[in-house]
Amino acid sequence: SHPTRRSLLFGTAGTAALLAAGTGTRFGTGAPATLAPVSRAGSAADVAVLLTAAPTTVDLGARDVATWGFGDRIPGPEIRVAAGGTVAARLRNDLPQDTTVHWHGVRIDQRMDGAPGFSQAPVPAGGDFDYRFVVPDPGTYFYHSHVGTQLDRALYGALVVEDPAEPLSYDAEWTVVLDDWIDGTGTDPDAVLTELRGNPKSPQDMRSTLLGGSAGHVAYPHYLVNGRAPEAPEVFEEAPGRRVRLRLINAGADTAFRVALGGHRLTVTHTDGFPVLPVRVDTLLIGMGERYDVLVTLEDGVFPLVAAAEGKNARAFAVVRTSTGDAPPASADVPELDRRVLDLADLTADPSVDPGDEPAREVDLVLRTGGARGTSWTIGTADAPDDTSVRVAVADGERVRLSFTNNSRIWHPVHLHGHTFRVRRSGGGGPLKDTVVVRPRETVTVDLLADNPGEWMLHCHNVYHSELGMMATLGYG
Ligand code: C2O
Ligand code: CU
Repeated sequence: SHPTRRSLLFGTAGTAALLAAGTGTRFGTGAPATLAPVSRAGSAADVAVLLTAAPTTVDLGARDVATWGFGDRIPGPEIRVAAGGTVAARLRNDLPQDTTVHWHGVRIDQRMDGAPGFSQAPVPAGGDFDYRFVVPDPGTYFYHSHVGTQLDRALYGALVVEDPAEPLSYDAEWTVVLDDWIDGTGTDPDAVLTELRGNPKSPQDMRSTLLGGSAGHVAYPHYLVNGRAPEAPEVFEEAPGRRVRLRLINAGADTAFRVALGGHRLTVTHTDGFPVLPVRVDTLLIGMGERYDVLVTLEDGVFPLVAAAEGKNARAFAVVRTSTGDAPPASADVPELDRRVLDLADLTADPSVDPGDEPAREVDLVLRTGGARGTSWTIGTADAPDDTSVRVAVADGERVRLSFTNNSRIWHPVHLHGHTFRVRRSGGGGPLKDTVVVRPRETVTVDLLADNPGEWMLHCHNVYHSELGMMATLGYG
């Protein structure tokens, strides 16, 4: 049951308190915190939330498992706020390790970015940290731990920034958080890291033509939609004919998902929070750290919503129900998965997006696995491809072009903190993103306006790759 507006205002235990102007921030007491969803007509200019990172037991559907999370469910509490508003989030660290919270995709004040060693010291076990930041842009974002391999446990949640003047019309919206989930099965994320450190090849040989080679390193025991395993899936209910906005978020660590809704086509409206010219597809591929918003007008029936773990022969699964009748099995055949897949080249930024001037400078970066035994992972330069500490220096106000050439045999979702870039393509008009998939032997070029001074992480969003060294810096001055 959702807390009422009144309980929010008075901050009852286990709920978040709205900020009251002039009275300072009041946090709900006790963990876990939850936030009531605020409708588009709502007025959540400012929100406050308590995020307690702690070992916990969660119900994956049909089984309870031990994990680390923000509260007692996966994902952690969904945070909703109006664009231009302020998020005040108190992190309480009840983990046995350091942690932080990173606000993925938000053009944030750098001190609040949650990047250990870049924007803050990690928060020690038993410690607290108060994040407080303005959300400048509407869109679909998420938050996650940024220490070690903690992202591959369950330390993540959705962050939805609503547009007070939302131009899209739709009847309902669903947040769909995808995850590959490893913990609690005897396999530990740190063990995976250790294995990869000695041998960069996938322990399993999982291939994907869509991704141009190796699909990833880990065949996970569970793939989740909103924290539910396929055996006891999330059920989204609506009336037939209704138009629904799905906010798709890939919070996984090592898995791209191919998403389709049986019996429907998807109209893609946003990627990484920013609008694109609507494009209809049967399915789309979403890399780790990416977000896609799609509109769907629902048919009458009961339908499988499938997120196939690309190249891994497994899937995350949910049910969309607009009428009575048996739910499809998790193994349901979904022909849309094998039809036309959204391509990056299909996406054109909405005309409201300022194209900006041509950058005067291009910086070429190389993604690779190298080193004597093939065990170094880097975002290097053409001259020094094995350099694990590349810093791209920019001037405040400068427009810069970055190119990413993938010289490795595995795909990489490249993510830049604190900025949104524009994917470059011939003829112009590429989409705005903060995370972009670069396949083997491919070069992706992006333009950005350096207008948010600080030292920012630029890294692969495969948590194992970034931990092994696929991490560079964009810094000012
Ligand atoms: Cu989700 Cu360094 O980012
Ligand atoms: Cu990578």
